[in-house]
Amino acid sequence: MEDTAFSRLYVREIRISHEIPEESYLRDLPVVRHLLSTEGLALTRRVTFFVGENGVGKSTLIEALAIAMGFNPEGGTINFRFSTNDSHSDLYRFLTVGKGIRRQQDGFFLRAESFYNLASDIDQLDQPPSFGRSVIDSYGGVSLHHQSHGESFLSLVENRFGGHGLYILDEPEAALSPMRLMSLICRIHELVEKDSQFIISTHSPILMAFPGAEIFELSEKGIQSVPYQQTEHFQITRQFLNAPEKMLDYLLK
Ligand SMILES: Nc1ncnc2c1ncn2[C@@H]1O[C@H](COP(=O)(O)OP(=O)(O)O)[C@@H](O)[C@H]1O
Ligand SMILES: [Mg+2]
Repeated sequence: MEDTAFSRLYVREIRISHEIPEESYLRDLPVVRHLLSTEGLALTRRVTFFVGENGVGKSTLIEALAIAMGFNPEGGTINFRFSTNDSHSDLYRFLTVGKGIRRQQDGFFLRAESFYNLASDIDQLDQPPSFGRSVIDSYGGVSLHHQSHGESFLSLVENRFGGHGLYILDEPEAALSPMRLMSLICRIHELVEKDSQFIISTHSPILMAFPGAEIFELSEKGIQSVPYQQTEHFQITRQFLNAPEKMLDYLLK
């Protein structure tokens, strides 16, 4: 599934093209420093993962990318326009996204914190007076508030993501059991076959196993492309699962 046909991707490159003010905290983020000191980050695969320690700048980067691609900062499709608070950074102002030749026909931005707001927004759109097919139908017909977090997320991906799309997901694993994560992998595979591109930040060693994906590890050193089995997530999880008692002894002594 390796995909070097750049023209088939919707996002091909992320660059910082405008001066970031000296006083901005953004300049201290390793991911931003890396982008400032390089020509930019080329995306060459249908599925790109951003991994790395908490606070390293994954959400900042993919939120800025999503906003630069026209999504609502709080998540959703390009059509969603609700706003509860302005908690996104202004990194998007300094970014230039190298786009593909064709524009995506579908898209979704899942922001880690705002799935609840999104669920409320869908319910709201279906309150009378509303016309035509109810929005909820494309989310499986049941209010996302009346499904568990994991169920509602999967029903969104299964019913609402249609292909030929750009899907930007910030830690989608939060609500999912290992089994459901594997269902998500299957669905991502189907959508990739239908000309979609995924850009995902994750801590899940299951999800990041997706075949043919590129994994960018963000750290103090900047941004590095790392093979799956060499990611810290994979190695630490394997070490733990191989000998939980040993690891716990070490941690708790
Ligand atoms: N307004 C702000 N001022 C200063 N630092 C901030 C601000 N907003 C976020 N940060 C810092 O930016 C860093 C990156 O955050 P984030 O992108 O959410 O990390 P990740 O998603 O990788 O866990 C964090 O260390 C956070 O403390
Ligand atoms: Mg984050």
